[in-house]
Amino acid sequence: MSGGAGPVADLASHGWTVLPDFLPADAIAALRREAEGWQTDGRFRPGGVGRAAACGVRHEIRGDRIVWLDPEGATPAQERFWPSIERLRLELNRELYLGLQSFEGHYALYPPGARYAAHLDRFESSDERAVSCSLYLNAGWAAGDGGHLRLHLPQSPVDIPPRAGTLALFRSDTVRHEVLPASRPRFSVTGWFRRRPLGRGLLSCLVAALILTGAARTTRAEDRSSAAPETIVLLHGLSRTPRSLRRLQSALESRGYRVLNVDYPTGRTPIDAIAKILDERLAVCRASGARIDFVTHSSGGIALRYYLETRPLPNLGRVVMLAPPNGGSELADVLRRIPLARTIAGPVRTGLGTGPDSLPARLGPAHFELGVIAGNRSLNPLFSWIVPGPDDGMVSVERARVAGMTDFLVVPRTHSFIMRSREVIAETGTFLATGRFDHTESGHAAS
Ligand code: OGA
Ligand code: MN
Repeated sequence: MSGGAGPVADLASHGWTVLPDFLPADAIAALRREAEGWQTDGRFRPGGVGRAAACGVRHEIRGDRIVWLDPEGATPAQERFWPSIERLRLELNRELYLGLQSFEGHYALYPPGARYAAHLDRFESSDERAVSCSLYLNAGWAAGDGGHLRLHLPQSPVDIPPRAGTLALFRSDTVRHEVLPASRPRFSVTGWFRRRPLGRGLLSCLVAALILTGAARTTRAEDRSSAAPETIVLLHGLSRTPRSLRRLQSALESRGYRVLNVDYPTGRTPIDAIAKILDERLAVCRASGARIDFVTHSSGGIALRYYLETRPLPNLGRVVMLAPPNGGSELADVLRRIPLARTIAGPVRTGLGTGPDSLPARLGPAHFELGVIAGNRSLNPLFSWIVPGPDDGMVSVERARVAGMTDFLVVPRTHSFIMRSREVIAETGTFLATGRFDHTESGHAAS
């Protein structure tokens, strides 16, 4: 894949881009042969128009025939396709914070003369499809063969010829496009990066990640027989140090876990630099293939969400987040408007506001087992006055939540000290071992 900042930056600023050599010629030829074989076997079906009940076949709008790809049954011909798509997904998340979680795609065959009238790819009822992508499989495509993908851009249309190896990428929600008729059969793999997993899409990410790393998924806690020990990684909050998590660390160590209390800079460090530092710190336990759990405090949870969206981690176990500003913090909104605070706090803190451009808002839902513990006691009346609703002096109970979390617990603790509480430590251990909180002690489940 050519990748790099260039094409990805184009997608960000113009809504579309073209990667001319997404896969080598032999990988493209293998896909083409497979698609032709499936055509001979009668596996292609007319493409539908619209969604679910409204879904019908209307040849005047859409004349292609398709076969959906099954990521779980990736064929030898698709062997290089899936890992490249997975790398592209991670790159898009890393560069653009898109929170893309899965890919769905199909082979498409446009017989000579077939077209697809101008349309948008995002269904009106859903915002799941975020980036559309077509990989063309047509060797020796000549200028006169037609079959261009025409993007209707604000200034003027752009025509992309469906040449073997070319990948066209564009935003599903804003770029209207059409397929012009060709004089030869026109084959592609066309698909969509989605912000929400499909049942099978989620699995497909895992499968792709497995292919990518060549690692075997390790066992869960109930079945810990692998040689390398399970590790719990602790990520402290902004402007704090590993010292703030010492008590939690010893408690987990005394339960027999190996604990890595990671020292990393927060303050003025951009999120991608933090992720790269985590790559170094986690290299050894990643390579061991043993299960890795995480416990985070405060913005350590945001750093982890970014990390998991931009790196495959097939041996990921469970995650507990203590007082995470998952929905941002109103306090950051206020701090950002105060110049001195902005200088002191640096990019990460001021990026933790509640606006649509803030880092938390740009991250996708959790796609792993996640328990969140929020506090509702405050030692800071001024901050609590700024933050609406019950809060821990920094983050409101509501904004600790994130879509996709498995369990949620509210405890009578403050933002700065929540991780030192005995009951919080006990509940953290319970979630790591079982995937649920106990909800028995003085904390209570909030609905
Ligand atoms: C589609 C589509 C474009 C192409 O299937 O929705 O727009 O170039 N395909 O095949
Ligand atoms: Mn389309």
